[in-house]
Amino acid sequence: MKIVHVASEVFPYVKTGGLADAVGALAGTLAERGHEVAVFLPGYRRALEHPAAQKPERRLRLKIEMGDRFASCDVLALNAAPRLTLYFISREEFFDRQGIYGNGERDYEDNDNRFIFFAKAVVESLRLLDLKADIVHAHDWPTGLLPLFLRYEERRHGVMLALRTVFTVHNIAFQGVFPMKSFSRTNLPEELMGIDGLEYYGQMSFMKGGLLFADHLTTVSPQYAREIQTPEFGCGLDGVIQSRAADLVGLVNGIDSAIWNPATDPALAANYSADDLSGKKACRLDLLRRLGLDPAFPGPIFGMVARLTEQKGIQLVLANRRFFETSPVALVVLGTGEARFEAGLRDLVAAMPGRAALSTRLDETMSHVVEAGADFFLMPSLFEPCGLNQMYSQAYGTVPLVSRVGGLVDTVIDVEDAPQDGTGIMFRPTAAGLAEGLERAVTLFRNSAALRKVQQRGMRRDFSWRQAAVAYERLYQDAL
Ligand code: ADP
Ligand code: GLC
Repeated sequence: MKIVHVASEVFPYVKTGGLADAVGALAGTLAERGHEVAVFLPGYRRALEHPAAQKPERRLRLKIEMGDRFASCDVLALNAAPRLTLYFISREEFFDRQGIYGNGERDYEDNDNRFIFFAKAVVESLRLLDLKADIVHAHDWPTGLLPLFLRYEERRHGVMLALRTVFTVHNIAFQGVFPMKSFSRTNLPEELMGIDGLEYYGQMSFMKGGLLFADHLTTVSPQYAREIQTPEFGCGLDGVIQSRAADLVGLVNGIDSAIWNPATDPALAANYSADDLSGKKACRLDLLRRLGLDPAFPGPIFGMVARLTEQKGIQLVLANRRFFETSPVALVVLGTGEARFEAGLRDLVAAMPGRAALSTRLDETMSHVVEAGADFFLMPSLFEPCGLNQMYSQAYGTVPLVSRVGGLVDTVIDVEDAPQDGTGIMFRPTAAGLAEGLERAVTLFRNSAALRKVQQRGMRRDFSWRQAAVAYERLYQDAL
């Protein structure tokens, strides 16, 4: 098949979260499996400076209509792997900046223009490159308008740009809602402004566009597919999603086992596997040393790698301050995000001298070091479309402590629910729920034989992208 992926972040070129991992790995795996794959992404400064993106070739120069003006861009192409071509939509005005979505404090004020422009430039590239895609697959709100632009351009030019379009919701909490005046830059017919179109409580929603106008919808786990049809998790779009329930499936992401494999991971102090876990001790020591913590610390280490936002349940960790202060446990957090959570965690860390650390950097290597060196991995998310770290941690023999939401439900097996198969500890997403989970972890840690079994079962599970890619292939084939 000829498959085109379009996303606002793709690993390794640019990443702020799991979206990048998911798109990068899915596209790569599909190409390995023999499909002809193209990936479009904005030519952010950071992406074009990435070592993997050196010397792309200029393939097109486009002029894109943006309301009553025109804006031009270059389309740069890169052969990333056999059958895998990367296209960067490069326009300095929109993408030559420090950040991706914002400056760290606030989202950029022209994100409506940036991503309208991006989607339109992708559609125009599909036409001029004559890619004749079987599937055009767009991800999350920044590409929400793409299916609509695509069909509109097909009609306008009397051409076929894609047989089917697919739109994947990675996180319904981010919807790309902008003032209605942004609509003028779409150059779409007025009737699409209404309630049956992009209108969302008097504003314009990119996410709604994707949900309404793509031929097929997916999200990143079966549980999340159910949740987003409810008011509790649908973030206001549950009704729209319900109306398209027949076209929606939940497919769990995989993990890139070339990058996330403790037997080969170059970031680790020692490699290890389910059959021989001895190297994990050296990883624990390495983690404690790197963070300047007591290398002889004997208790369980709780690790966390996450965006410091409400979604990730940081407030639940902070609410359990007494547990962390008074129990013989260590806490290691790698994450960037909201200042209030950074400050709260810094406070907590200060109250645990020698056995807690917070690193507020984006650090790929450190994320591997934490995954390998911790005993338990904390993910008390309030909602979690799929989540990747709970899969990484199982692969690394680090027992996940997760709330019973979204993809966590589909990828972790609680040891009390299933004593013979359990791979982790699950709890309700509340402070009290997390407290119970932490106590259960401490108890499990004391029983090293039982702990070993839980670790090994996690490590022997297959979370590879191959499985996930096969599921997408089936979806594409059915769609066609
Ligand atoms: P989300 O996309 O909601 O942030 P996921 O679990 O799907 O959650 O993916 C998060 C990804 O980002 C993981 O690969 C995780 O290791 C990574 N990550 C998050 N924070 C950091 C950080 N500070 N440094 C390095 N990697 C990070
Ligand atoms: C989103 C979700 C996360 C998911 C990722 C990749 O960022 O928050 O749960 O794993 O997308 O699909």
